[in-house]
Amino acid sequence: MKPLRAGVIGLGVGEQHILGYRAAGVEVVALCDMNPDKRAEASRKYPECRIVESAEALLDAADVDVVSVASYDHHHAAQVVRAISGGKHVFSEKPLCMNEDELGAIRDALKRNPGVRLSTNTILRMSERFRDVHGRVRAGELGRLYCVEADYNYGRLHKIQAGWRGEIVDYSVMLGGGIHMVDLLIWMVGSAVIEVSAVGNKVCSVGAAFQTPDMVMAWLRFDDGTIGKVGANFGCVYPHFHKIALYGTEGTFENGIGGGVLIRSRDPQDTPQSIQSAYPGAAKGDLIPGFIDAILGKGKAAVEEADVFRTMSACLAIDKSLRTGKPEVVATY
Ligand SMILES: NC(=O)c1ccc[n+]([C@@H]2O[C@H](COP(=O)([O-])OP(=O)(O)OC[C@H]3O[C@@H](n4cnc5c(N)ncnc54)[C@H](O)[C@@H]3O)[C@@H](O)[C@H]2O)c1
Repeated sequence: MKPLRAGVIGLGVGEQHILGYRAAGVEVVALCDMNPDKRAEASRKYPECRIVESAEALLDAADVDVVSVASYDHHHAAQVVRAISGGKHVFSEKPLCMNEDELGAIRDALKRNPGVRLSTNTILRMSERFRDVHGRVRAGELGRLYCVEADYNYGRLHKIQAGWRGEIVDYSVMLGGGIHMVDLLIWMVGSAVIEVSAVGNKVCSVGAAFQTPDMVMAWLRFDDGTIGKVGANFGCVYPHFHKIALYGTEGTFENGIGGGVLIRSRDPQDTPQSIQSAYPGAAKGDLIPGFIDAILGKGKAAVEEADVFRTMSACLAIDKSLRTGKPEVVATY
């Protein structure tokens, strides 16, 4: 197989994808941003790359085999479908898309192009601390998980009061951030979410154009009987943080602001075991080398197509439940 060549659309977090491709030994041949200032900056910083004005031009380029979609959330779906339809592998920023119709269109594009690989940047699967805990869960150290909780404490209120996030009329905090926690819980439990029920409010985001809640909380029912709770808390007075609690029959793990702890006793005199592995301990491009290995048939991506669809589908069901005010069954793709 000839060496893969990559292109990146969107040079915010997309710049970190460049590092991921380089770490995988993949040449980044083209970069795109719709902002002319960003393009000028990119030509100075990356003289070896072709700087492209439109996403469509990059998506249609014959010398690009893998595309990173790191544009605004509501631009992802059209770019992902165009890339897949052109036979290009796609590493998309989260969320993959904004609604069920778009998710169906992406699934159909993949069915028509079965050789194409897709992954998304739910990066917490690369966090050293969460990998440590995942290993312990799989080894049975917590016994059988029966209840899991996670909060995405965004702590960056300014990013939704102004800027592109604030301007998307139907902006979803679950798709915009809570998705990281949904993906993490599905990975930890090792089972799909099958039913959800959500509530939300909009108290903190004064000044934002979007009409949807900035605080969403959802109950989750997993296929294996585990239950859970996930929060997307975009207005909190809190530093950016991923708070989790995993309750098992033999132990409990908590990731709190003071650190990670593993609790194996009901005795208040016993000291919990401190989990010191690095948190977050991952860079935004760290999933890319594994994804490239999967394309080359040399390994398994940390976030496979089935993972992408399971997580997206659960988040979309949460948003649906917010609209209907009723529990919603999670669609399967
Ligand atoms: N995985 C993560 O942890 C993580 C972290 C931050 C952002 N994100 C996601 O990455 C994406 C980008 O967010 P960001 O924080 O980098 O935003 P940003 O505003 O910092 O950068 C986005 C860049 O993309 C460009 N852009 C947007 N739409 C484009 C299009 N259609 N064609 C060409 N260029 C386009 C903009 O001009 C801008 O320079 C979003 O989907 C966001 O949700 C993911």
